[in-house]
Amino acid sequence: MKVLIAYDSRTGHTEKMAQYMAEGVRFSGNEVEVKKISDIKTEADLQGYNGYLFGSPTYHRDMTQGMKTFLFLAQKAKLQGKVGGAFGSYTHSGDAPKYIYETMQYVFDMNMTDLGSFNLKEAMIDKAEGMKACQDYGRVVGEKLNAAG
Ligand SMILES: Cc1cc2nc3c(=O)[nH]c(=O)nc-3n(C[C@H](O)[C@H](O)[C@H](O)COP(=O)(O)O)c2cc1C
Repeated sequence: MKVLIAYDSRTGHTEKMAQYMAEGVRFSGNEVEVKKISDIKTEADLQGYNGYLFGSPTYHRDMTQGMKTFLFLAQKAKLQGKVGGAFGSYTHSGDAPKYIYETMQYVFDMNMTDLGSFNLKEAMIDKAEGMKACQDYGRVVGEKLNAAG
């Protein structure tokens, strides 16, 4: 099965999370594609995956404007029942992943990971612990796909 990791990132931290999470998905035996949301132009670009991880950093206690626009596009892709998760880098409040997760859960009606949304403090990303936390999130999402058959 195949997972799409779609992220926004201004200074590269959420992008790094996406790359580590992709490693975790591969550990679970699944395929993965990592894309910037700016490279996803139509809802057709969102078709053909079994699982979706959407990521945005938190700026001004919110997700980025790009992620908001992306979620309107994702709504058209009819992701109901697909496995999902949300993530992002932050320094102190980390609001974005929770809001993205809730949209995926309640608006798109996706099959969300039991781990909840995944916030990682920016300072942790370059530490082994932070890298492992990202890999673990990706792996658990991949294992949920395996269990769903
Ligand atoms: C202007 C500005 C506003 C920010 N606002 C928040 C915030 O409200 N909450 C928070 O947790 N982090 C906030 N941050 C920190 C970023 O979320 C953090 O630097 C994050 O790692 C950036 O991710 P990126 O490299 O993927 O863009 C802010 C950073 C800047 C520069």
